[in-house]
Amino acid sequence: MSIDRRAFIASIGGSAVLATMAPSQKADALEAYLQKTLNEATAPAPAGPAEGPQKYPTVAELEAQIERAPTRRGVGNLFVARKGNVHRLAPMPAKPTLIDFFRLRFMATSNHVLQSANRAMKNGMSEEIVLACLLHDVVQELIKVDHGWWGAQLFEPYVPQKTAFAIRYHQALRFYADPANGYEYPAMYLRIFGEDYKPEPYIEATYRMVRRHKWYIAPRMVTVNDLYAFDPNVHVDLQQFTDLIGRRFKQPKEGLGFDSSPVAHMWRSLMRPDAPL
Ligand SMILES: [Fe+2]
Ligand SMILES: [Fe+2]
Repeated sequence: MSIDRRAFIASIGGSAVLATMAPSQKADALEAYLQKTLNEATAPAPAGPAEGPQKYPTVAELEAQIERAPTRRGVGNLFVARKGNVHRLAPMPAKPTLIDFFRLRFMATSNHVLQSANRAMKNGMSEEIVLACLLHDVVQELIKVDHGWWGAQLFEPYVPQKTAFAIRYHQALRFYADPANGYEYPAMYLRIFGEDYKPEPYIEATYRMVRRHKWYIAPRMVTVNDLYAFDPNVHVDLQQFTDLIGRRFKQPKEGLGFDSSPVAHMWRSLMRPDAPL
């Protein structure tokens, strides 16, 4: 899928904003843009205003940008409308399953992760990795900031350890090429983020730790199957993964959100984003 660079830049508020976003913010913004474009495949993202010459805002200008937006960039998809007002959400069953969440709450992220998991399956990945691909970004419905860590936390009680590891660390590995394993630093990142930027120190430190880890290949394969997974012409049905979910996802009998696990409240927050307190 080709990226309309102008539309992407317009979607985040212009090139001046892009120039001073932190690397991880840029990556998250691009990911969100690609997801949005994928979800609106029948209607390509509108072209934005013509780009002026590159201009780098000061810290004060960047802070002013923050105050001109109604929400912060890291807010979860369920909590903010892309256009107009938010819509009423369908009620969840009394004992919701992962599949219920996919159908009733993961609307903004499901196309992307289904395509990613489909690609992983076609590439012969293990079930642990296919499951990681299937779940790797859905926590962005709740929160986008540090979504690798949040996502791993959300799923840790229910999935194989290696799957949670892959979800947690795919976020950091996106920035580091590994040609031997089929991951080139994406050309679109070079073009959009510039070639001289440096990820934040905690991302760099995480990458160095994971690179030496015996499970390095697990999150690496999420990035390999992630980046090229955006295809508006491919529709993947969740049914393709229901057997895998049955085998690898420990569905609590009380329902997600009601099993008194340390992360049950996170599932309830996904279930009830309109609760005032
Ligand atoms: Fe991601
Ligand atoms: Fe992704």
